[in-house]
Amino acid sequence: MKKELIKEAKKARERAYAPYSKFKVGAAILTKSRKIFTGVNIENSSYGASVCAERVAVFNAINSGDPEIVEIAVVTDKKEPAMPCGICRQVLKEFSKNLKIYAANLEGRVIETTLDEILPMAFTKKDLKNKK
Ligand code: THU
Repeated sequence: MKKELIKEAKKARERAYAPYSKFKVGAAILTKSRKIFTGVNIENSSYGASVCAERVAVFNAINSGDPEIVEIAVVTDKKEPAMPCGICRQVLKEFSKNLKIYAANLEGRVIETTLDEILPMAFTKKDLKNKK
C-alpha cells in the first residue's frame, strides 16, 4: 500500500491550511479493515490551536469507526521527508501495533520506518494498569 498511501497523502496535502508556517503536510492512513483515511495540517491564528495532519487522519479513522491503523504515509515538500512530531507519535501509538511509516517528499524520496523505532519505550495504557 506504500505507493497508494503516498499518492493519497500527496493529494490531501493540497488541502492543508497552513497560512502561518507555509509548511503543508498531508497524511494518509491505512486501517486494519483496509480503508484509507486522509488528514492535513490545520493551523489557527491562535497558533497553539493548530493541529497536525497525522492527528487529523487518525481522528478521521476513529470517527468513522475504524479503530486500528496499520500504515501511514506523511508527505511534506522538503529535501528530507519530515517525521511525525512527538505528540502525533503518541496519538498514533494509541491506535496501532507497530505501525509502518512512510515519510515522503514531493520528489519521491521516501524514508521507511516503524512507530516502535521512532517511539521506543512508549507510555501506553499498560502503564495505567501496572498496579503496585
Ligand atoms: N506538522 C504536521 O502536520 N505534522 C507533523 O508531524 C509536524 C508538524 C504541521 C504543524 C504545523 O501546521 C506545521 O506543520 C509547522 O509545524
